[in-house]
Amino acid sequence: MARSTTPPTGAPEPGTRLSVTIERAAALGRGVAHVNGLTLLVARGVPGERIVAEVERTFPGYALARVVGVERAAPERVEPPCPHFAQCGGCDWQHVAYPSQLAFKRAVFEEQLARIGRLAPPADWELIAAESPLAYRDRLEFVPVPLHDRYAPGFHGAQGAAPVAIAHCRLAPERYTRLAAAVLDGLLAQGALPPPAQAVAAPLPLHRIAVQGTLREDGQSALAVLLHARPTRETDASNLRRRFLQAGHAMLPALRARFAELDALALCLPSGPGKRGRGAAGLEVLHGPPWLFKRVGSRTYRAPHDGFFQVHPGLAHRLCGDVVDAVRDALADGAHPSREAAVFDLYGGAGLYALPLAAAGDRRGLRVVCVDSDRAAVRAGEETARDSGLARCAFQAGNLERPGVFEALCGRWGAPAAVILDPPRRGLPAGLIDSLRSARPPLLVYVSCDGGTFARDAARLAPDYALCSLRGYDLFPQTHHLEVVGVFRPIRNQDNA
Ligand SMILES: C[S@@+](CC[C@H](N)C(=O)[O-])C[C@H]1O[C@@H](n2cnc3c(N)ncnc32)[C@H](O)[C@@H]1O
Repeated sequence: MARSTTPPTGAPEPGTRLSVTIERAAALGRGVAHVNGLTLLVARGVPGERIVAEVERTFPGYALARVVGVERAAPERVEPPCPHFAQCGGCDWQHVAYPSQLAFKRAVFEEQLARIGRLAPPADWELIAAESPLAYRDRLEFVPVPLHDRYAPGFHGAQGAAPVAIAHCRLAPERYTRLAAAVLDGLLAQGALPPPAQAVAAPLPLHRIAVQGTLREDGQSALAVLLHARPTRETDASNLRRRFLQAGHAMLPALRARFAELDALALCLPSGPGKRGRGAAGLEVLHGPPWLFKRVGSRTYRAPHDGFFQVHPGLAHRLCGDVVDAVRDALADGAHPSREAAVFDLYGGAGLYALPLAAAGDRRGLRVVCVDSDRAAVRAGEETARDSGLARCAFQAGNLERPGVFEALCGRWGAPAAVILDPPRRGLPAGLIDSLRSARPPLLVYVSCDGGTFARDAARLAPDYALCSLRGYDLFPQTHHLEVVGVFRPIRNQDNA
């Protein structure tokens, strides 16, 4: 989207207030309205209601706006449970009752599938609700926000506004925010952070602070803290490391006395100023085990302190079970070309799907190959597989954006019986889609956290693959995000069936 400083001719100036009716829900949690031929995308507008929208930014043909008054409320509108809602950039739908959030997400995704993918959802399309729409996350990532004489844990503000201090993020249990606040107090007391009054003038040496769930050796749930430090003009990387290590060790006893569940404290240093680097090279664990331990269902996974892992363990269990079942059922149906053929789990992380799939297929001699660019995730997966005695689950580091990576995998492991795909939000690279279309594995299970790129990729696969089954999982209640799993089969196979 191009930035606009002056409104296009005839468009309302930013700050203009307009009385409009919200017609339907749109991407990013906005509502669509029209006025004088202009499309308004209104933050916190609820379909069906009459509101006063204030224009924020204009673009040719459309403008971004926000609700500043409600003239006739929709029945779905509720009091947001969090006092920070609307200022905080984390949630989009807290002003809507949970069942209606699901209905709006469903409608937005169906519209994306039709408009971008030119596809209708298959007959079995359903959206699985979260058990609880609050306190479901086991990871929060805060930014430090100067607040009087302290730093408070905060989140980036809505629509790109300045970060907002948060008293309790309702998406996780309260202790997550309280622990982050106590760590910030400790870092300030130990001199790792400058006095808050000076923070306005210069970037802070602490970029982000993550609080996340882990398990102790005895299986009890615990918390881990990860500090993302960054060099500044005043503090180079080695000074920074020393300063944060000293502060971390000094504040640990008091922190652990106050938070008995604190099991790990780690420091992540990017490789150079300005880089948003993360990964094992810059990771130092000050206290606790080298890995996080994550439980999904009855399985415990190792995961890197600074790597990807699903943040909603309750619903991830359901998602994971469905992905594994989709592959297992297809293999049981004889869709695979030979008993020796492997299943590729691409963008597989620490093995969320690969490990249970390998366990389920072990008796039949199924081989699973899990590929990810995060080397720490690959090592974590290898260790979990070894501990679980899963000899036929291989983990391999690889950049799936690179041309020829899929062909190299086929060269090493043979043509796959099925491929699981779970890319980041940007979706699949065009080259990988071309490779899949020419290799034509008998089954693709595509897990996506972005409806738009999923629809785009489904359209790119469409000449060769049919979308046969589709399910959504509300892994992120109160936000516009939705996880979907699509099962694709080659068109000719299906026609012959
Ligand atoms: C949405 S996560 C899914 C991970 C895993 N399937 C899970 O559910 O835990 C996407 C994964 O893609 C990996 N990734 C990102 N870019 C990649 C690339 N170019 N090549 C390979 N893996 C990549 C990330 O490291 C991350 O683990």
